Amino acid sequence: MTVPRAFVSLTEVGPRDGLQNEKTIVSLETKIHFVESLAQSGLTSIEVTSFVSPKWVPQLADAEALLRAIKRQAGVSYSALVPNEQGLARALAVGVDAIAIFTAASESFTKRNINATIAESVARFSPVVRDAKAAGVRVRGYVSCAVACPFEGKVHASAVRSVTRMLLDLGVDEIDLGDTIGVATPAEITQLYEGIADTLTPQASVLHLHNTNGRALDCAAQALALGVRKFDGSVAGLGGCPYAPGASGNVATEQLIDLIHRLGYATGVSMDQLCDAGRFISSAIGRPYGEAHAGDASCQRADGTSASV
Ligand code: HMG
Ligand code: MG
Repeated sequence: MTVPRAFVSLTEVGPRDGLQNEKTIVSLETKIHFVESLAQSGLTSIEVTSFVSPKWVPQLADAEALLRAIKRQAGVSYSALVPNEQGLARALAVGVDAIAIFTAASESFTKRNINATIAESVARFSPVVRDAKAAGVRVRGYVSCAVACPFEGKVHASAVRSVTRMLLDLGVDEIDLGDTIGVATPAEITQLYEGIADTLTPQASVLHLHNTNGRALDCAAQALALGVRKFDGSVAGLGGCPYAPGASGNVATEQLIDLIHRLGYATGVSMDQLCDAGRFISSAIGRPYGEAHAGDASCQRADGTSASV
């Protein structure tokens, strides 16, 4: 008798965190195909776009058109970033399944990213969470700079714990901890979870890793050992934050899933189909697949038994 394997959930953030950082604007048709092909892979959660100010992130100005155009698959949650009530109204008008509000554990980053102090951002999100929940929409709360800030350096877990508490008090459904600039070490992941243990357990958290220093997979392995069961990834390692200097791509979903499968967990994602999506978007933006910590090696390793679980 086969014992069912423990499950790890993934949210694919490439269409949002990946494409928000591209210098050229990707066409609506390309985005539609990208999101639809991701949904074919078995991923059940896709962060499609952002309802932020198009002056701040012109790359995602077509958010409504994209969410209206994609053919949605049953069982897939299509979500978007929302910075304020104006963003929520736009997101609800096109029927998102979930929203993500976003603040940080660093004052300097919060100011540069959303033009607010941390306290102002939480106050701004209060009606957003209330109205989203009233509309039956799930809410994720991102805490960026959970390990380090591009302007302030090392961030202490006490700052992460404090903003996490504020977001939980607003009623968010989950907290997503972001290593926004991709500099964490596995030891810092342990310190982070130990430092916030009375407020957020590893099991209840989502971990959002960037891979600037090439340690994201080591951090993910450490997080799995601590009990984290929800991660974000971006196919082909696309990504970054336009308001976080030095931040490079997110951890590549292909490599993350390859790691998770090798460690004996199930994800429900077909690596072959995921790699098709990764190859498609890489070619569409003119980048060799494999350049930025991408998935070809993971795709090859995934041929055969580990291709689909
Ligand atoms: P502001 O300039 O202070 O806002 O920006 P405002 O209220 O003064 O509005 C300015 C203009 O923007 C107005 O238009 C508003 O109507 C418009 P105007 O009158 O000048 O024509 N506006 C909007 N338009 C459409 N949709 C909206 C909206 N809101 C205002 N929702 C604001 C404040 C929050 C809007 C701005 O700072 C913003 O949009 N920031 C978003 C920045 C962003 O998207 N950063 C990247 C995502 S965060 C990230 O990547 C980290 C993450 O991946 C996790 C991790 O890695 O740690 C999530
Ligand atoms: Mg990010």
